[in-house]
Amino acid sequence: MNQQTLGFGEGGSAQAQMDKLVRELNRHSHRYHVLNEPEIDDRAYDLMYRALEKLEGEHPELRRPDSPTQRVGDAPVAQLVPFPHRMPMLSLANAFDSADLRAFEVRWDKRDSSRTAGGILHQLRNHGTDLPSVINYVVEPKLDGLAMELVYLDGVLTGAGTRGDGQVGEDVLHNVRTIDTVPLCLQPPFPAYLSVRGEVLFELAGFAKMNDAREAAGTPRFKNPRNAAAGTMRQLNPAVAAARPLMFLAHSAGEGLGPPQELSHTGLIDRLEAMGFRSAGHRTRCAGMDAVIEAIAEIGKVRNRLAYEIDGAVVKVDDLALQGVLGFVTRSPRWAIAYKYPAPTVQTRLREVVFSVGRTGVITPVAVMEPVQVGGVTVTNATLHNEHQMLRKPEYLGGLRPGDLVSVKRAGDVIPRVDAVIDEPNRMKRPLAVYPTKCPDCEVPLIREENEDDPEKVVIRCPNKLGCGAQLEAGLRHFASRRAMDIEGLGDKLVGLLVAAEMVRCPSDLYELDVAGVAALERMATKSAENLLLAIETSKAQPLERCLFALGIRHIGEATARDLSLHFGGIDAILNANKASMECVDGVGPEVAASLIAFVSEAVNREEVARLRAAGVGFTAPGAADGPDRSESTVAGLVFVLTGTLPIMGRNEAKQRILTAGGKVTGSVSKKTHYLVAGEAAGSKKSKAEALGVKIIDEAALMVLLTAGEGGP
Ligand code: IVH
Repeated sequence: MNQQTLGFGEGGSAQAQMDKLVRELNRHSHRYHVLNEPEIDDRAYDLMYRALEKLEGEHPELRRPDSPTQRVGDAPVAQLVPFPHRMPMLSLANAFDSADLRAFEVRWDKRDSSRTAGGILHQLRNHGTDLPSVINYVVEPKLDGLAMELVYLDGVLTGAGTRGDGQVGEDVLHNVRTIDTVPLCLQPPFPAYLSVRGEVLFELAGFAKMNDAREAAGTPRFKNPRNAAAGTMRQLNPAVAAARPLMFLAHSAGEGLGPPQELSHTGLIDRLEAMGFRSAGHRTRCAGMDAVIEAIAEIGKVRNRLAYEIDGAVVKVDDLALQGVLGFVTRSPRWAIAYKYPAPTVQTRLREVVFSVGRTGVITPVAVMEPVQVGGVTVTNATLHNEHQMLRKPEYLGGLRPGDLVSVKRAGDVIPRVDAVIDEPNRMKRPLAVYPTKCPDCEVPLIREENEDDPEKVVIRCPNKLGCGAQLEAGLRHFASRRAMDIEGLGDKLVGLLVAAEMVRCPSDLYELDVAGVAALERMATKSAENLLLAIETSKAQPLERCLFALGIRHIGEATARDLSLHFGGIDAILNANKASMECVDGVGPEVAASLIAFVSEAVNREEVARLRAAGVGFTAPGAADGPDRSESTVAGLVFVLTGTLPIMGRNEAKQRILTAGGKVTGSVSKKTHYLVAGEAAGSKKSKAEALGVKIIDEAALMVLLTAGEGGP
């Protein structure tokens, strides 16, 4: 096929030829990517594409913004800039079972006004609207991606922004443009201004392939598609997004569509499809709540076979006029609700129970299973927590037996767990997994530490603090970890090799390593050894709080290490403090003080600290020399609680940034809490904060607070 046969020959001005090519290429791209009904083959498309590229090369001033060549060619942006939403992007209330769904619609009943006051029918009656005999709903998948708004002016894509705090997101047009299912221009007819909302998601088969390719190239796999999509959209260089199998599925409109042209949500989505968007599919119109419940169950059945991840179903009132009457409660519509399916469970076989030794010698049982896919990740190991759980959890039917058929559950990003043992005729014939009596590593007899208050909290421990290789390895891994000394490149494998080669017997030995010795280890070379030594050298500058945390003293977590560091201001003051002065520290109770006293009174520990200092580890006090000045921070001194999923930072990073800015993060909401940072799927903590009148903010607002405090140089 040549250009002539396609009709893009000599005739017409360059502009006219380019217009036609752009129109045709966009039409074919839509047929291919959205409708799955290509009209021409790849080669014909490529020829047209090249013809357009050539013309654009000759007449760069005539290049159109909706040209398909603009999907990739963008230069990286310098930074992400704010993207204000003309209409706020809202969130949805959650339902977890059919009772919640019925309460969403329930009739007004004076005898039980508190429970039913939120019902749709009650709201309609309040507005003086005639109650329809039955309400029509639409049920569709709740797409588990990154919420996005696309803006079209005169049919051309001119803006794309993330949800952010609902009012202001981030401008990510450069990345969104690269997504094949995003139309660069709309099929007419279209409104002069249109904002479309939907989700950017990974296509799962492509995601798996991409992960395999990453692994083959030595880059880490992405753990879950949603976070990977969010991370990709925040990239400055659009080439990254262009190379990843992302898609955009539309689920609603902000402005531009609606009555009187469109009377229903169904009609509105049909219009979006006609303009060139892809929607989720599996959209069901339901007359009444019984039909809704059925449709939700249907989506539940196919959810594992969908091409993308979903985290529930969305129920919407179909009639747009009724939607208008129902309106909004604070930040979510009264006419829609999200149904959350119970966490997925899958079955697999238990291979064995192994016992891992923690850095304080605590022995933890770990279930090792036949590899199985749950919620997008392959699971083989799951902690069984402790002896009590392993043997007494009722769902484990008297204790786990290798060979057992087990069900494994994983909710969202949460660590997988063995949910239950499935009874089988001969399972009692198989031997029960029991705790060892000796340390699996050093073979010293284990000790039991009963907990008088709570028999479930019995701790089984290897007492061989100084001679147990497994404890040493766990301690070194903790010492080097990202939130402690942050020694990049010192992973589990290398720690194992260093300990096995007896090159490292305590953390301070790390600072004595030399390039030749490290390079001689398995899979190491001069370059990687030099990198490791550089990372070790860099860690000497870590501040006191991190050094304290890195020492792995029982009960001294990051927050306590920080409190101690601020209070005492130096390692000597801590080493010489007595119990009473320790208990003066905010956040230090008798248990923590006792643990700290036990640590500082042991000669080996004092010697280890002295050796670290001699090696150059600074234990740099807060406020010293070039430490960050937190006095100006808006976050300093404020107490935060984090709950729900924070899609951009993640809870760990958010916590780290709050701490760095001088704030505090605690686990539960109380009157002392200044802010609850509520992500998606925030649960009981949110209700508690509401009850106590604690300010509730989202991730974007937290970022604003944090950046406000990061002011000048
Ligand atoms: S309709 C008021 N439909 O869920 C918001 N939202 O909690 C109305 N979402 O981030 C949105 N799938 O992007 C709607 N089929 C769907 C959806 C959906 C996912 C997201 C939405 C927002 C969040 C709201």
